[in-house]
Amino acid sequence: MQKRIFSGMRPTGSLHIGHLSVLQNWVALQNHYECFFGVVDWHALTTGYADRLELPNLVREIALDWLSVGLDPDRSSILVQSQVKEHAELHLLFSMFTPLSWLERVPTYKDQMQQLGQEGKDLSTYGFLGYPLLQAADILVYKAEAVPVGEDQVPHIELCREVARRFNYLYGPVFPEPQALIGKVPLLPGVDGRKMSKSYNNAISLTASPAEIHARVQQMITDPARVRKSDPGHPEVCIVHRFKQIYAPEAVAQVELDCREAKMGCVACKAQLAATLEKLLAPFRERRAYWEEPGRVEKVLQDGAERARAVAASTMREVRQVMGL
Ligand code: TRP
Ligand code: SF4
Repeated sequence: MQKRIFSGMRPTGSLHIGHLSVLQNWVALQNHYECFFGVVDWHALTTGYADRLELPNLVREIALDWLSVGLDPDRSSILVQSQVKEHAELHLLFSMFTPLSWLERVPTYKDQMQQLGQEGKDLSTYGFLGYPLLQAADILVYKAEAVPVGEDQVPHIELCREVARRFNYLYGPVFPEPQALIGKVPLLPGVDGRKMSKSYNNAISLTASPAEIHARVQQMITDPARVRKSDPGHPEVCIVHRFKQIYAPEAVAQVELDCREAKMGCVACKAQLAATLEKLLAPFRERRAYWEEPGRVEKVLQDGAERARAVAASTMREVRQVMGL
């Protein structure tokens, strides 16, 4: 039997190429695991509880992004968290025996509360404190044994393991202790050199058209000391070069030489990068067009939720029984 994995993302805005390595990791895992991928809309409400108007559209968009990079609904169950109520029931039951101190000491809790507090959001809420416990329920309701996540999520997976252990101790062995599968994520800057983020308006979206790709590459900051084409360049300070190291590693050595010896100008260098990115994103745009046809994503999410519910319902029968319900 294949091992099972669960992973999720909050629907908070369209994905950009900085998310690509995580998604491509998910796509590859489909070959080795039974996969459940959740659009965790309840988690989005824990920090954005007032942003209800956009939510349905954000859910659809992120599902389209996933499908366009190659998540395959025949092999993976793609579900929306709020359509599988068992996540909520398990979260409630976990809350009975999870000490408050476990949640208060999760490092992301105070950090994020402070950070988002500065942006004017009051996160001294019950739901936000419970964020990692809801995440534990997401994972354990499927008895997932592994969870592909970024490094930043390790404390949440650690909490999930503690919750599973405590449950098993109190009520008997029901849950596995899931492992984090940490994906290597290359650090990708935005076109202005800051962190790539939709909110900084410096991101290249997964759905960027060739024209948008060109516009973004035009905005990339090059070597400021290189005023004329005849000035030797310093690729180590250039954003175009950072992108080439990730997306065109085979070309990097030559670019470095040509740049330092002023044999290639920035215009040509940028044109090369734009072409590389166009080639990278073209298949995603094609697949996306297929899934955008009316009714297709809806069908995927319906089937996904149904398959998820079958597994989750069976876990919950066991849980209720051992808890005396
Ligand atoms: N907290 C995760 C993040 O911010 C999203 C998430 C919610 C998740 N539930 C999950 C990830 C379950 C993995 C498994 O990225
Ligand atoms: Fe950057 Fe390329 Fe210009 Fe060199 S030639 S500074 S690597 S854009």
